[in-house]
Amino acid sequence: MSESAWEKLRGLAKPSLAELFAGDPARLDTLATRFELGEDEAATTIRFDWSKTHLDAGHLAAFEELAEAMDFAGRRKALFGGEIVNPTEGRAAEHTAQRGVGKDESVALAAENHHRMAAIVEAIHRGAMGEVKHLIHIGIGGSALGPALAVDALARDGAMVDVHVVSNIDGCAMEEAFKGCDPATTMLAVASKTFTTIETMTNAESAIEWLRENGVEDPYGRVVALTASPEKAMEWGVDETRILPFSESVGGRYSLWSSIGFPVAMALGWPDFAEFLAGAAAMDEHFRDTDGSANLPLRAAFADQYYTRLRGCQTRAVFAYDERLALLPDYLQQLEMESNGKSVKADGSPVDGPTAPITWGGVGTDAQHAVFQLLHQGTNLVPVDFIASIAPGHDLSLDHHRILLSNCFAQGAALMAGKDSEDPARAYPGDRPSATILLDEVSPATFGALIAFHEHRTFANAVLMGINPFDQFGVELGKEIAKQIEKGGTKFDPSTEALLELAGIS
Ligand code: F6P
Repeated sequence: MSESAWEKLRGLAKPSLAELFAGDPARLDTLATRFELGEDEAATTIRFDWSKTHLDAGHLAAFEELAEAMDFAGRRKALFGGEIVNPTEGRAAEHTAQRGVGKDESVALAAENHHRMAAIVEAIHRGAMGEVKHLIHIGIGGSALGPALAVDALARDGAMVDVHVVSNIDGCAMEEAFKGCDPATTMLAVASKTFTTIETMTNAESAIEWLRENGVEDPYGRVVALTASPEKAMEWGVDETRILPFSESVGGRYSLWSSIGFPVAMALGWPDFAEFLAGAAAMDEHFRDTDGSANLPLRAAFADQYYTRLRGCQTRAVFAYDERLALLPDYLQQLEMESNGKSVKADGSPVDGPTAPITWGGVGTDAQHAVFQLLHQGTNLVPVDFIASIAPGHDLSLDHHRILLSNCFAQGAALMAGKDSEDPARAYPGDRPSATILLDEVSPATFGALIAFHEHRTFANAVLMGINPFDQFGVELGKEIAKQIEKGGTKFDPSTEALLELAGIS
């Protein structure tokens, strides 16, 4: 049945963006939607404008047929119902329960964990661990990318605690954090779902050593552990009272909402963290309760599938026209590529076509002066997302912000319109797609909704492709070989052997 929907999709005409706008005066009404966070007139909104993509009524209907064939409604129900949606690991994926939306027991457990986390955050703010000016948050992948992004996005106007996120095993990263912190007023957050990740545990040991060398008598007493493996954190030396657990059913790259968000709450204060969760919950409810292409993450997934599977696009680009969201592309790279970069379906059979495109991007307007040449005139068709905020994040004259937003909107218009020229080097083909997400402001609530939108978009894409977005076995082999290298005694290929010898590792 899904094949017949794809047949239909392949058979549809491919009008240009200009033709689509000319042929449908109501195009904006269908494809640009105001998402409201709150119910009154003054509600904060996010505009999701997918009108500059090639989706039209025919595509939307055929993609809705595909969604039905792939049992989108059933998969979504299973997700929110806390059923096993990660069959290869036999797990549910209950990140929405962290936001209060999901199976009752899971929501209750998440609320209990949050209650404890709030109490600890507030106690530390009140001085329970002595003076805390700096927090070094140590984690990697999903245990670092979300916290780094959220702190950078939301805590620019004076954080309650100065947060440094360290992920890389390269000691330069840890040393950089040490330079910015006073050991006497620094606490550590060790963030790892498994509490076994080599980078995180090595960095944590170094941080303990640094505190000890700098006169902190009980360095483990300065640690808060954020983990789904509390017993491992205890074995490592963290007192039970300073372990903030979360459920095994929360995936690493979906864990920002759990205790992994501790540095965000430390920087912003609990009320803002609660608003961040509420913003995500509003998007959860929209995703759970809205059918067809009015469902914003599903509609975005329709466009993603269109470009990947019908137009052969191997990448998709995200440009945040906002310094506060500069780390968003990094975050989305893990979310989308670790989730959907797969070659087999959930049942183990080979996929029917390309899966996740390569997500890349940057910040506007910087990227205009670096990579936009390729977007406008290169041979690759790259669907682009622009993300911006109507309210500026600074107090400088409004010229800055007006110029920033004008450039953002100009790029979408230029990609679509193109420009003829007698000189081929100066011609722009146009008809290049983009979507725009325009926030009223970057606030904890809009930011929460924005991240939840992308989580659900990723899930919706996985359902349409029939794959499991919640495992990540592709990261294991490299880790295993690194361990064998560390251990010694294994013979590798000649190239690897030569590199090891040159670096003095063998
Ligand atoms: O190696 C990939 C990965 O497992 C990610 O999925 C995860 O976010 C990251 O490592 C960190 O894992 P942990 O939180 O268990 O340290």
